[in-house]
Amino acid sequence: MKRVGLLGCGAIGTDIALAIDSGKVPAKLTHVYDFTKKSSELLASKLQNKPVITENVGLLAAAPVDLIIEAASQDAVRDNALSILQNRKDLMIMSVGALLDESIYDILFDACKDFNKKVYLPSGAILGLDGIRSVKEELNSITLVTTKNPRALKGAKFFETSEIDLEKISTSTTIYEGSAQEAVKLFPANINVAALISLAGIGSVATKVRIVADPMTNKNIHEIEAEGKFGKFSIKVENIPSQSNPKTSRLAILSAIECLKKICGSEINIGT
Ligand SMILES: NC(=O)c1ccc[n+]([C@@H]2O[C@H](COP(=O)([O-])OP(=O)(O)OC[C@H]3O[C@@H](n4cnc5c(N)ncnc54)[C@H](O)[C@@H]3O)[C@@H](O)[C@H]2O)c1
Repeated sequence: MKRVGLLGCGAIGTDIALAIDSGKVPAKLTHVYDFTKKSSELLASKLQNKPVITENVGLLAAAPVDLIIEAASQDAVRDNALSILQNRKDLMIMSVGALLDESIYDILFDACKDFNKKVYLPSGAILGLDGIRSVKEELNSITLVTTKNPRALKGAKFFETSEIDLEKISTSTTIYEGSAQEAVKLFPANINVAALISLAGIGSVATKVRIVADPMTNKNIHEIEAEGKFGKFSIKVENIPSQSNPKTSRLAILSAIECLKKICGSEINIGT
């Protein structure tokens, strides 16, 4: 069985840990770290098989595990992803927005080759990355429209300089339009899907992003439109937010668990 370490014990980390602990994923969670120690302790208290809570992230990176799952933040990826690969561990990244910084992407790309390790990016809260990858050389345009309840957008960096007051929004309102690269910096905890779409289409057209705040919705909705020589496709996903973190969709958690099953299992793999 693969030995797994977890960086980040919040909404995603907890559900992944519970899935491993219940036997749904054929793996062993042996080490966890969160810079809020209480979160690691709370997580460990929910598990039958208690993992070691490491004192710092360096000890997690050096722990005897095969794979480390990052479910923490873009900063956690920037600060630790390289050293995890250097420590000869595979890495699953949830805070995918960090990879739209080209220097980080390039460093991790090279490190995978240098250390013969893999980085996994689960499909997260969307569908269709297989299609985007397949048509990337024939794309003319690709856009993402993300609609969330204002409470799921609260606290984003964007509002530090914007005059938009989320409390005052009473109807569906576009609050942001721009590139995926800029969107992941301004909404680091909200728009990982924009990063995934960009990375799937890397080297082709830039992904355009629109973010809508809609007080009448209780879903995290992602609509993708792609068009080019191959034809076109539209995908709409209406996600139920996670109960412990409204910014994170339930599908993102399920997709991480499914990705982990694929890495750890010895089953027939369905889909590209
Ligand atoms: N790929 C996707 O589709 C997708 C979907 C949803 C969320 N996410 C991303 O996954 C990450 C986790 O999401 P979540 O809902 O579990 O968040 P969360 O806020 O519920 O939990 C994050 C946990 O990580 C800890 N943490 C943050 N930065 C850390 C660091 N540098 N070192 C150690 N611990 C750190 C926090 O204390 C917290 O306990 C976020 O960055 C989120 O944006 C990705």
